[in-house]
Amino acid sequence: MAFDIDMIKGVYARMKERVDIAREVVGKPLTLSEKILYNHLWDGNATTAFERGKDYVDFAPDRIACQDATAQMALLQFMQAGKSKVAVPTTVHCDHLIQAKDGAAVDLKHANSVSSEVFNFLESVSNKYGIGFWKPGAGIIHQVVLENYAFPGGMMIGTDSHTVNAGGLGMVAIGVGGADAVDVMAGMAWELKFPKLIGVKLTGKLSGWTAPKDVILKVAEILTVKGGTGAIVEYFGPGATAMSCTGKGTICNMGAEIGATTSTFGYDESMERYLRSTDRADVADAANKVKEYLTADPEVYASPEKYFDQVIEINLSELGPLLNGPFTPDLSTNVGKEMKEKATANDWPIAVEWGLIGSCTNSSYEDLSRAASIAQQALDKGIKMKSELGINPGSEQVRYTAERDGILQVFEKLHAKIFTNACGPCIGQWARYSDPKNAPKNSIVHSFNRNFAKRADGNPNTHAFVASPEITAAIAIAGRLDFNPMTDKLISENGEEVMFEEPTGWELPPKGFEVKDNGYLAPEEDGSHVQVNVSPTSERLQLLEPFEPIGNTIKDAKLLIKAFGKCTTDHISMAGPWLRFRGHLDNISNNCLIGAVNAYNQKTNFVKNQLTGEYGGVPDVQRQYKAKGIKTIVVGDHNYGEGSSREHAAMEPRFLGVAAVIVKSFARIHETNLKKQGMLGLTFANEADYDLIQEDDTFNFLDLNEFAPGKQLTLEAVHADGSKDLIKLNHTYNQPQIDWYNAGSALNLIKRQNAS
Ligand code: F3S
Repeated sequence: MAFDIDMIKGVYARMKERVDIAREVVGKPLTLSEKILYNHLWDGNATTAFERGKDYVDFAPDRIACQDATAQMALLQFMQAGKSKVAVPTTVHCDHLIQAKDGAAVDLKHANSVSSEVFNFLESVSNKYGIGFWKPGAGIIHQVVLENYAFPGGMMIGTDSHTVNAGGLGMVAIGVGGADAVDVMAGMAWELKFPKLIGVKLTGKLSGWTAPKDVILKVAEILTVKGGTGAIVEYFGPGATAMSCTGKGTICNMGAEIGATTSTFGYDESMERYLRSTDRADVADAANKVKEYLTADPEVYASPEKYFDQVIEINLSELGPLLNGPFTPDLSTNVGKEMKEKATANDWPIAVEWGLIGSCTNSSYEDLSRAASIAQQALDKGIKMKSELGINPGSEQVRYTAERDGILQVFEKLHAKIFTNACGPCIGQWARYSDPKNAPKNSIVHSFNRNFAKRADGNPNTHAFVASPEITAAIAIAGRLDFNPMTDKLISENGEEVMFEEPTGWELPPKGFEVKDNGYLAPEEDGSHVQVNVSPTSERLQLLEPFEPIGNTIKDAKLLIKAFGKCTTDHISMAGPWLRFRGHLDNISNNCLIGAVNAYNQKTNFVKNQLTGEYGGVPDVQRQYKAKGIKTIVVGDHNYGEGSSREHAAMEPRFLGVAAVIVKSFARIHETNLKKQGMLGLTFANEADYDLIQEDDTFNFLDLNEFAPGKQLTLEAVHADGSKDLIKLNHTYNQPQIDWYNAGSALNLIKRQNAS
């Protein structure tokens, strides 16, 4: 059995006491989100009411899920922790490293050949450390989690931003960086700023051409791509309970597109139906016993304004199908006339070249069956397909069942390509063009979640619009962006005027789900004998060596770079082509800070080597300092390290020998990542001191031997002319974090503690 019913029962068993105490402590009725959060406090029962959007709180998640791109470094780090097994149930899913091109059979074989080294590594580490492993082709992480692991009232983290999809089954599921996942795997707490709460009341009922996707497209329009930042979005109301569980998953999935910490729904009959149909009747039975704890207290939904920080109401009966895009998921347009006007005014290509259905967002049985009902009408009415169609089933279970029921065959009759059960075009793993950078302007419609430039096919001129699967199917068949299936006629091959009827489908397969091989490999009970082999000549994987402590003496350090302006994790550790080196710290370190702008010449990747006086690339110059045993510092501006939670942005400078990063202010996650890697992350006590740092300076830390919580540090900057400045530096290290620094990294410390 893939899921752990005893763990789930344990969560429910403690729920009543913990939630009742939390209600007392908070002093008012609780939302569902609060119930789940307070039931997962690391320290047990609540003793204080946390301030939303302000307090940092330690949590104990129930599960972890990792995808293949992010799992590599996460597991390499976990191997450093000296543990024999993961502390929390964990799964690894191979879905990102499979390129879509010719269809599932050919593409999967190709991926298994070009990425076999990575897949084998992930499989053997999983087997060794008690991690469930989902093979390439088994499915997309979030669909597999929804089908197998998500449970109402649970809390999980995952190393992918769309982990939030599991909110469709009533979880608080949050996307995190690999470093956070490693902490939890190693048995540590997971820290999160207690989120603000946004309530979305859904009244009315979806009907006709309108789908759950349109709800989140509407919410994105209302809240914009930043509107959910730092908040959990909790959906409720009659429109919510009337919707399928997988529809709720779609809505929660795209909560990532409004920046929300996560989204969730209260437990209801749709969830119970879904649990039972996915072979988890025992979870449904257990959930039924604590039903009232798996939704908000009644007062909350009766007067939501009193309990949420913001409330939005949407009447589903008035909602129509939307197309969001291009280039941003929050630009909503009603299908048909409004799209025609906007497309003409903005010069968006009207002809649609591709329709893509599936991904982790919209590949449920319901989604595929409703889209297929439109495809079937095209066949029945003799409507010729005007664009190309691609389907990415979310899991082998959905694919197998859809094939058994003839659904995939309907698409194939329209010459659709059925891609692997994997991310494919959703993450740019789509060999659509040989030279995407110079590919022509065009429009595509898809039922995925993200539509930023180049996201699907690498072509900056592709205008991608996001829609429900049924609208995607209709528009792809019509081949026009401004097609309105509710009013517009098409000409059949017989020359007759025909129209589509409303889509139909099944919430769940009438004959039940079925699968021959779901692609899951359970780990061995005792994996201690399992060998994890990483070739020393591999260019994609490299075992990690523990970092040596930097120590309490930093003298005669050099400046590697003074970064000017914005310096995000992308500037520090670029994505794109570097994705292939995610598991090889030495190789990926060749992108270290290459996107940061040098404050002295406004150029990127062009810094002075103080040993030679010459200019060179940041990683090259840093490697020369390292070879001579010279420590360096990096100086930065405000909000340094904002962006993703990618731990590579901290590991690379650490690996290359940077001792300290000193900035005006940090993005918090990056600051914590630096601490975890045993580095100094410091801020100027006086921001203007940033200007005192000169290109040829040498640095001495005068009182690092007195490093203590709340105590400023002093940096002596010795300028080329011999003059000196004393610069006061602040830090936010608490004692355990200073212990990480002294040990060389958080993982070194965990390992030491395990050994003792
Ligand atoms: Fe994969 Fe796209 Fe989802 S990349 S995990 S299918 S958002």
